[in-house]
Amino acid sequence: MPKKKIRGKFLTFGDVLLIPKRSPIDSRKDIDLSTNIGPFRINLPIISSPMDTVTESSMAIAMAKNGGLGIIHRFCSIEDQKNEVEKVKRKENWIIENPITVSPETTLAEILSLVEKYGFWTYLVVDENRKLLGLISKRDYLFCDDKNKKVKDLMVPFEKLIVINKKISLEEAKKIFEKYKIEKLPIVDKERKVLGLITSKDIENFSDKKTSRDSKGRLLVGAAIGIKGDFLERAQELVRVGVDILVIDVAHGHLEKTLKAVKTLKSKFPQIPLIAGNVATPEGVRDLFSAGADVVKVGIGPGSSCSTRIVTGVGVPQLGAILWIKEKYPKIPIISDGGCKNSGDIVKALAAGAHAVMLGNMLAGTDEAPGKVMVVNGKRVKVFRGMSSSFAYEKKLKETNEKAEYIPVSEGAEFGLVPYKGSVSEVLENIEKGLRSGFSYCGARNLKELWKKAEFVEISLSGLKESGFDNIFLV
Ligand code: XMP
Repeated sequence: MPKKKIRGKFLTFGDVLLIPKRSPIDSRKDIDLSTNIGPFRINLPIISSPMDTVTESSMAIAMAKNGGLGIIHRFCSIEDQKNEVEKVKRKENWIIENPITVSPETTLAEILSLVEKYGFWTYLVVDENRKLLGLISKRDYLFCDDKNKKVKDLMVPFEKLIVINKKISLEEAKKIFEKYKIEKLPIVDKERKVLGLITSKDIENFSDKKTSRDSKGRLLVGAAIGIKGDFLERAQELVRVGVDILVIDVAHGHLEKTLKAVKTLKSKFPQIPLIAGNVATPEGVRDLFSAGADVVKVGIGPGSSCSTRIVTGVGVPQLGAILWIKEKYPKIPIISDGGCKNSGDIVKALAAGAHAVMLGNMLAGTDEAPGKVMVVNGKRVKVFRGMSSSFAYEKKLKETNEKAEYIPVSEGAEFGLVPYKGSVSEVLENIEKGLRSGFSYCGARNLKELWKKAEFVEISLSGLKESGFDNIFLV
């Protein structure tokens, strides 16, 4: 075979180990794991994948609260995706500028469906001119069995509320909450029209420095879009409800159509950071970046639920792809997407040059991932499927009313199961500890030092065997 037809041997996570280095680190807690995703600085370089069994609002909220980032999947109607983004943006915000309001005639049944939709329990009661009439919160209706009861008969009326009529500082708000022992503080103008709402819980949460936030203090969230059909309308609506980052999430990011979509999106929404992918070559990264992407997502075929390499014969081993890209374009920020099975793989992906990693499988099976816990053969599991599976494709066509000109072959697991893992915060805490230790072994206080100092060795099969547990019984 002519030599130039083979680009060489590319390795991946299991083929290498990082060499331990002299380390200046006294305590692993001092290691800075923060990274930049476009203009945003996040404290944990981990992003949850836009898969319909991984990221909806619960996951995105947990990711942001743990210092990472969640990307809401696009395998649903625009309306549903928008709602999921809104749930995240409304979750924590020290001043809620546009609080959801209800009328005095709203029934308890309607309030309960709002609770289901938005995930919070307190609503301001207003008249048709947005004049504040009262406030209804959980304790006003928790034990009420009559679902037809009207809000006006349950709410705390305006006269009994503590309200303010100007926007105040965080410190001033804390003092008012302490003085009056209240949990909610509406803001109204001189005509009593609603200007905003402050909640004690948001103020408490706001003091935490780990959380990923936008400039208004709201949780950071991204959302995925495609390159066909309704993608521009989808992007427009997502931007309208405050999405922070758009992610072009397609199987082949080096399609000319993807490059065109990047250009169009960047010209329509220049203020919104754009992540685009997936590609696995320096040329792919260069072209997406030149078209306007702020960050490029790398990974063709490494995903745990992915059959692209088997079905099509195409892909590049993930670690080799990152190293190849970084050698040619060290300044273009990339996200390593897919193939990480443990925190060690994440350290390797970062050490090779990624700004962050995107995880599917490692976060699936948690409480915050969509879907119910099932018991199969006595074990608790949750569903995890590939987004290029026929199942996901058909679901997308149905939900988005898209017409298919051509039905592609399935490139993903149709109905996978993963072990139930409990809370994603615990999973992320363990990953974070693994990263801190990994950075410490490499002598790196932060990501920049890791990129500079990291060196890999290729290992043999015996080396791989030696790396796992050996000669002990696991119980
Ligand atoms: P992990 O290994 O973390 O990977 O589960 C998550 C990433 O896998 C990709 N993905 C797919 N790739 N066919 C593919 O070729 C699929 O059906 C599929 N579903 C997900 C995706 O990039 C995700 O972030």
